[in-house]
Amino acid sequence: MIVRFTLNGRPREVETEPHRTLLDVLRDTLGQLEAKEGCAEGACGACTVLLDGRPASSCLTLVPLVEGRRVTTVRGLERDGRLHPLQESFVAHGAVQCGFCTPGVLLTALWYVEKNPGADREQIRQALGGNLCRCTGYTKIVDAIEAWSRRATAEAGP
Ligand code: FES
Ligand code: FES
Repeated sequence: MIVRFTLNGRPREVETEPHRTLLDVLRDTLGQLEAKEGCAEGACGACTVLLDGRPASSCLTLVPLVEGRRVTTVRGLERDGRLHPLQESFVAHGAVQCGFCTPGVLLTALWYVEKNPGADREQIRQALGGNLCRCTGYTKIVDAIEAWSRRATAEAGP
């Protein structure tokens, strides 16, 4: 079957068997290796993408379900070759160690904080409950998200 969708703002068309997951198609057909495969059963969050702007586990999403929809991976966050300010905050706060969890964490955090400006640390931690990180202990990740959230809120003004 043919599935058409938008990937990071670009229209894509793939020929695929209907039982394949979005994660398989992203990685093995389209070479989007930034979508990570961890558990492959919906438990770790490494494969998180935004589907029409909401986080989704691409390892649990059969590719026919993305027909006509918008898929965003972490590569879709850059603008004009520059990192998204949330990514810059991760770098500044040392929130990336091995980096395996980072694409999924960034996408979940972006979605959550944009919906919940001014979220506190505990709320940010809870929002990341489905994104496992085995390296950082989460403190630096929350530091980075909180700092970006405060700056974005201040720039948006009263
Ligand atoms: S690889 Fe999809 S949730 Fe773990
Ligand atoms: S930075 Fe290694 S799993 Fe999170």
